[in-house]
Amino acid sequence: NQIDWKIEQAELGHFTHYMEKEIFEQPTALENSMRGRFSDDDSTAKFGGLNLDPVQWRQIDRILFCACGTTWHACLTAEYLIEKYARIPVEVEYASEFRYRNAPLDKNTLVFVISQSGETLDTLEALREAKRKGYIVLGITNGVGSSIARETDGGIYQHAGPEIGVASTKAFTSQILLSGMLALHLGRMRDLSFGDGREMVAAFRSLPGLVSTVLDQADKIKEIAEKYADFSDFLFLGRQSMFPIALEGALKLKEISYIHAEGYPAGEMKHGPIALISEECPSVILSPHGDTLKKVISNIQETRARKGSVIAITSAGKDFPQDTADEIIHIPQAHDCIMPILATIPLQLLAYYIAVKRGCDVDKPRNLAKSVTVE
Ligand code: G6P
Repeated sequence: NQIDWKIEQAELGHFTHYMEKEIFEQPTALENSMRGRFSDDDSTAKFGGLNLDPVQWRQIDRILFCACGTTWHACLTAEYLIEKYARIPVEVEYASEFRYRNAPLDKNTLVFVISQSGETLDTLEALREAKRKGYIVLGITNGVGSSIARETDGGIYQHAGPEIGVASTKAFTSQILLSGMLALHLGRMRDLSFGDGREMVAAFRSLPGLVSTVLDQADKIKEIAEKYADFSDFLFLGRQSMFPIALEGALKLKEISYIHAEGYPAGEMKHGPIALISEECPSVILSPHGDTLKKVISNIQETRARKGSVIAITSAGKDFPQDTADEIIHIPQAHDCIMPILATIPLQLLAYYIAVKRGCDVDKPRNLAKSVTVE
């Protein structure tokens, strides 16, 4: 035991928890996930292990993603990215639902499973069910040589490094990055232009540096977290590609701090969650620059009019005046394809510092397992 403890401390370096270490490792993990995966002319992404030729890719009419937990949120983000940049319809299912649902699939559907560990039983069984029906199944996994890596027809390794904290952080952002790069790869086989492709590649390359600038705000986010650590309910709201990130922010908070939190599309607020808003229930509202900013600002006003405090995550600079929200965390304004990743970082830090303040066992939250290999 003593030896284990020492090894653990050595690996942790100056960090207190693996989750904290893994949050701060994200610039490196993202760098490693994209290394060697852009074309020589910097206009598209390339993957060595997908094992499909361009003709097979062009025959695909639809993509189905299956996963569990945080990774399911990465799939929802992939849906936005692939539909936007590659214009291929995407469906996302919980692996545990897909395997029993006997869903009718179009014959030109490509099935993708995503799993950090590569060992989640429901995801593995969803993969087997799709293969049994004769579909090509590809995977994105961090688990080299894992069951999912072995049984898929091809795939992409994340190379995000080992993730030890039960609550997934760097594996999640790496999955979104790879989904965005997949969207680029598929888009360039269809209607995405050379110039648009180069802009996306430049954005992906800038990502590690931009993530570092968000991590540099950790002290400020910690202060906000400590101020809000005693609440027992939270809402997380976002629109478009920020909606899955809102779901993930809520999941992260409930997993490690045991605070009840719900994620919703901000536009759905008036269909239910608005009833929860009071001075007892703060909201975290994702408000990046873009087409829906005005709508999100009006959601913030509706929340504050009902005495709910608002922590806003925004990239909108002067279009988001200081008095718009109770707390404002700024993220850089960048290409849309990387905004979901930039918006994730403050939510991870917020959940982490709130859980630490509440004295929770961040790396081993109660009742949860890193990899769920049973039903
Ligand atoms: C567990 C973990 C989550 C993870 C999920 C799926 O619930 O606690 O962090 O997102 O499994 O895991 P996978 O390894 O398949 O991505």
